[in-house]
Amino acid sequence: MADLSEIAGRLEGLHLFQDRTCGLQAVIAVHDTRRGPPRGGTRLRTYESLAEAADDASRLAQGMSYKFAVHGLPYGGGKGVILQDEAGAKDRGLLEERLRAYGRCLERLGGHFATGPDYGVTSREVDVIREVTTLAIGEHGSQAGPATAAGVRTCLEAGFRQLGLELTGRSVLVQGVGTVGGPLARQLTERGVRVLVSDPAPAGAALASELGLQLVSPDDVFTTPVDALAPCATGELFDSATIDGLQCRLVAGAANDQLVGAGRAADLLAARGVLYLPDFVVNGGAAVLLTARLESGSEPEVVLAERRIKATIQAVLARAERDSRTPYQAAVDLAEERLGAPGQ
Ligand code: PHE
Repeated sequence: MADLSEIAGRLEGLHLFQDRTCGLQAVIAVHDTRRGPPRGGTRLRTYESLAEAADDASRLAQGMSYKFAVHGLPYGGGKGVILQDEAGAKDRGLLEERLRAYGRCLERLGGHFATGPDYGVTSREVDVIREVTTLAIGEHGSQAGPATAAGVRTCLEAGFRQLGLELTGRSVLVQGVGTVGGPLARQLTERGVRVLVSDPAPAGAALASELGLQLVSPDDVFTTPVDALAPCATGELFDSATIDGLQCRLVAGAANDQLVGAGRAADLLAARGVLYLPDFVVNGGAAVLLTARLESGSEPEVVLAERRIKATIQAVLARAERDSRTPYQAAVDLAEERLGAPGQ
């Protein structure tokens, strides 16, 4: 595990917050603001230590810098993390108190960082943070989940096309059926995809029985034979062990920070004959929807966000082909280029 000084060394800013009255512990990481002020979701989950939470926030903040750059948005990368514990998980009132305390922490940063939903933080939690600050976006009714799902779906389509296949009739395993994976499973089912789902929470079995989908045990997610895998829960999924066991040809999902060891994992995936579409390109739907000014007559924002993701993934695939790089490396190159030339 990296120590705090090493983690801070990757960042422009690392902010630790504590509220002793309600037991809030939170981390806000700011990665790169050359393109604009930092934006990024806030996640709520348990961590072994504050250092582990800071490490997570820093990697996720870097992903946000890449995400905004690659999709051409004028923002920088940031991420918030609220450490969940047993008391917070059991007591909704206490959790809401912590969310409001977190909102006051955002205020203390002077309006520099604005945040929104992420793993463990839905529009319902965003609404609580908004009771004390306007620095939270993605409130109830904002369609962030469906927009991200639509972006993932369009990337799956582009990935299959790259492999000479059509989306309809393929099998896709969706890992995690929360605010993104749930709508994704529905959208794919409507398009004639054979959808499999996996989620340790009861929502997994409920969705499987509602839509008549195959439910896969969490232990089998990385070894089940399917055409594509769409991870839509937490990250740090692909290392040499999981990559070795994969029985799919395409990976494209909404989870942030999917690769363990970044470029090396991308190379291993390519060597195994798996087309890996970079997470920070695939999952940009909410970032686009929540931060871009999407105006185009009568078209729904979700459709406009999806179109932006489609254009970016096509550009990334074209660049990968041109430079004989993996799509991951091509996307990192594009993002780094734009981080160095903020006007683009
Ligand atoms: N947390 C989501 C993401 O990683 C959505 C989000 C984007 C939230 C931008 C706030 C700001 O993309």
